[in-house]
Formats: sequence, structure tokens, C-alpha cells
Amino acid sequence: MEPNRQDILIELDRLRKEHGPGVSLLPALHLMQQRFGWLDGSTLSLVAHALDVPEARLRGVATFYSMFRFMPVGRHVIQLCSNVACMVMGAEVLLDFLKGRYGLEPGGTTQDRRFSLVIMECIGACGSAPAMLIDDDFYENLSAESLPGILEKYR
Ligand code: FES
Repeated sequence: MEPNRQDILIELDRLRKEHGPGVSLLPALHLMQQRFGWLDGSTLSLVAHALDVPEARLRGVATFYSMFRFMPVGRHVIQLCSNVACMVMGAEVLLDFLKGRYGLEPGGTTQDRRFSLVIMECIGACGSAPAMLIDDDFYENLSAESLPGILEKYR
């Protein structure tokens, strides 16, 4: 269900009062991405207006961070690390599995919009590689055997 614009404005106002206009940009962008799944131009305009900051500044902040998305995504976003430790420990096999089973390519979304795949540069779990996030859930020590069962939890 599409979030109600008035509810969003109330939440942005609460963030602004809680954090102050300058420091509420990141929480506000996170909130919008949670609600809408990604950030489009009208959402960024709404946030800039509600927080009384120049839209160019907000766009600059949003585009600086790789966690913000500017394209529609599936219901669940897989963020798979492909940096050195994860690659050495088998991330390539996981990528092959995602492509073979779901036709999922890096940056892509499954036809049923169940999953989107984002390739990350180290998510801070090198000691338990390979690792990934699905939405806000963290998984480590992944293998071709464990991955299918994990993905089944996300519909
Ligand atoms: S290299 Fe994958 S978590 Fe660090």
C-alpha cells in the first residue's frame, strides 16, 4: 500500500524536531527508502521541502551513499559482498547460483519482483566470508548449500 503523504510529512517533521534540520537528512532518506523502496525525484523534493534544505544538497547527500537506491527494486534486496575475502571464500559460486536459479544479475531484479541484487564492496564481515544482507538481515559463512534455504524465507 502506498504510504500516505500526510503521514510521511508528520514523520519528517518529527525527525526534524528530534535531530534538527541539518542532521536529519540521513534518517529522513532512510525513512523514505523504507516506505517507498527507493528514492525518486518527487520523494527527494518532498523531503527537501519538509526539512527546508536545498534539493541539490539533499541529492548530493543521497547520491554520496551507496545504500540509497534511485531505481525501483524487488520486494527483497540482496546485497552480496564481492570484495576479495568474499570472492576467495566463494562469492562467485553464490553469484552463479543466483543467476542460474533466479536469472538474477548484479543490479537486476527478478521478473516476479521478488529479489533485486546489489553487489557490495565489503560489508565488514571478512572474517566470516562470504557474507550478504537481505533487506536488514545479515548472513555470513554462506555456501551454495545454505543459500537456497535462506532465500526461501523471503517471499
Ligand atoms: S570482503 Fe566481503 S565482507 Fe569484507
